[in-house]
Amino acid sequence: MGPSGPEQRLPRRSRSGGEWRSTCEMTTQNARELTEESVEARLAELLGQERFTPPAEFSDDAEISDPQLRARAAADPVAYWAEQASGLRWSTPWERVLDDDDAPFFRWFEGGRINVSDNCLDRHVEAGLGDRVAYHWHGEEGETRDITYAELLDRTARFAGALKELGVGQGDVVGIYLPMIPEVVVAMLACTRIGAVHNVVFGGFSAGSVAERMEVSGAKVLVTTDGARRKGKTAPVKPEVDRTMGQLAPLEKIVVVRNTGIDVPMTEGRDVWFDEVVAAAEPAAPEPMDAEAPLFILYSSGSTAKPKGIQHTTGGYLTGVSTTHRQVFDLKADDVYFCSADVGWITGHSYIVYGPLANGVTSVMYEGAPDYPHKGIWWQLIEQRKVTKFYTAPTAIRACMKWGVEHVAPHDLSSLKLLGSVGEPINPKAWLWYWHVIGGENCPVVDTWWQTETGAIVITTLPGIDAAKPGSAGTPLPGYEVQVLDPETGEQVTEGEGLLAIPRPWPSMLRTLYQDPDRYRSTYWNRFGESTYFVGDSARIDGDGYIWVIGRVDDVINVSGHRLSTAEVESAIVAHPQVAESAVVAKADDLTGQAIVAYVTLQGGTDPSDAVVAEINAAVADRIGKLARPKRIVFTQDLPKTRSGKIMRRLLRDIAEGRDLGDTTTLADPTVVDTLKDRWDAGA
Ligand code: PRX
Repeated sequence: MGPSGPEQRLPRRSRSGGEWRSTCEMTTQNARELTEESVEARLAELLGQERFTPPAEFSDDAEISDPQLRARAAADPVAYWAEQASGLRWSTPWERVLDDDDAPFFRWFEGGRINVSDNCLDRHVEAGLGDRVAYHWHGEEGETRDITYAELLDRTARFAGALKELGVGQGDVVGIYLPMIPEVVVAMLACTRIGAVHNVVFGGFSAGSVAERMEVSGAKVLVTTDGARRKGKTAPVKPEVDRTMGQLAPLEKIVVVRNTGIDVPMTEGRDVWFDEVVAAAEPAAPEPMDAEAPLFILYSSGSTAKPKGIQHTTGGYLTGVSTTHRQVFDLKADDVYFCSADVGWITGHSYIVYGPLANGVTSVMYEGAPDYPHKGIWWQLIEQRKVTKFYTAPTAIRACMKWGVEHVAPHDLSSLKLLGSVGEPINPKAWLWYWHVIGGENCPVVDTWWQTETGAIVITTLPGIDAAKPGSAGTPLPGYEVQVLDPETGEQVTEGEGLLAIPRPWPSMLRTLYQDPDRYRSTYWNRFGESTYFVGDSARIDGDGYIWVIGRVDDVINVSGHRLSTAEVESAIVAHPQVAESAVVAKADDLTGQAIVAYVTLQGGTDPSDAVVAEINAAVADRIGKLARPKRIVFTQDLPKTRSGKIMRRLLRDIAEGRDLGDTTTLADPTVVDTLKDRWDAGA
């Protein structure tokens, strides 16, 4: 396509690999002798340490070593982002970097044309990197597949051709509901190649929730699979899809990836096999897309039961993810990068698919759960593939801590150079465990704060130059500005607590909520005006400008880093015919960060039968997915309400977390909470 040099921004090879490795080997040697007692003792020592500076060997060879970069970017952020975007291959250069005339509907790289799959694949293959492995894929039963950039390009171009033959064109929505298999990447990239808009639904969500998302996005084609494997079992997927999706009018075709080989019904004229259409198709060329053409929609939970269709566009998103991936993970050409997220979440979109591929690195992709076939599988993969950069979530780290160091100790993790965390605040103890046990005290830990809406990492530490403070994400990356604002006055807080806000547009920001610009405006741009993005998190900023994210200020729950809305779970529960009312709150949980607690009143106020409990759980699993099932359901005659009938959720959270209830006089019936507290304490 365009004129700019494809190698321009590809990562450098690391300079001091040999030296570094030997240092790491020494510490891992010690790590192998780790016991629970030795780890406890070491963490107790480290708990008092406020800052962790990057290891010297790391800093010496870091991608970003200029401490002035933030200041330079802040002096002219628009020019800074233009410089980053110029590392990509554009078929038509942009005319204007940022168009903020119609805030909050910002536009980036106006007039530019670019294709995402061209940047992720063709550009690297043309530069002679076709034989480089894009993904070392590992199945949960131990199978492996290495997919090179050239192979990924071939499959993508063919599937893009197949989609065109199925009638998909620019702007059409394609649903993707697949497990962690390479075809999920092929399907996403194929959409970008021809300007179709993908709408990936996390494989852990139920087929019912897929149907809802397909319907609201008007998807024309759905790419799914015969079945999915999870911890040694095979779950049929296609029959479930048929059950919930059969009636959807706009859905014209279902493409089925043969994954588990189980027998599934295929509807003549509507359903086709992925491998057959790929084999028959002519490869499609990448179509130059407008920088602001929609790239994908990803549904995420908000304050209401209706999920938000977060919409990202082409040029800005790719600029944001490629830049941040390179900087935050300190990319080198010989890196082997492993992100344990699922492609169905934004972390998977940005840091399994688009960031790594745009930067031409080799990734490990794992199909299975972290404890299957055994609790040391991640560490085994890291050892086997010599993974250098590893990115996971605090909830997973806490689970590994609980499982014990015996699952880590047998593995040689000396290849690791950097560790990342994402999805929720990481408590200092989990941070220290990650640093000590997994990183051998030699790998910077980057705690990355961002959201589906931001598209890319916003706050973290630059690993080669910034000290990390366990529990704090760090400071905004170059080109971003983040503020903590007083909730009452909207004034900036320079040291203290407030609401997180981003007072300046950035390239990978969401552009709107799919077909709902009013909700986009009211959700993000009403609180502090039309040019300051309201994040929805509260945070503390310290004297060094480090940000300590506290949590959501809306009715969004974060379970194991998965974002769910209380209203969504409530509406699944009240759909049960015997349920009269339900209030769902989040309770702090040692393992999952937050856990779901549901308070439920039944018709006629009766005590529940075991069948009702099972049915409620099944209803939640069916409508949303198993991950949304409440950890605890408390049945009650009444919920605490104000005189105007509003449920006082604060009290429900206080009950669940064992706090003093304080003033309850505003309640219509203050005795309700006493009864509830008794029921909670009695384990009812
Ligand atoms: O509350 C913040 C929390 O996750 C929310 C965004 O969720 P989602 O859109 O699903 O994206 C998750 C993966 C990027 C944020 O509003 N969050 C995410 N990362 C962190 C975090 N909270 C604290 N520290 C983090 N590193």
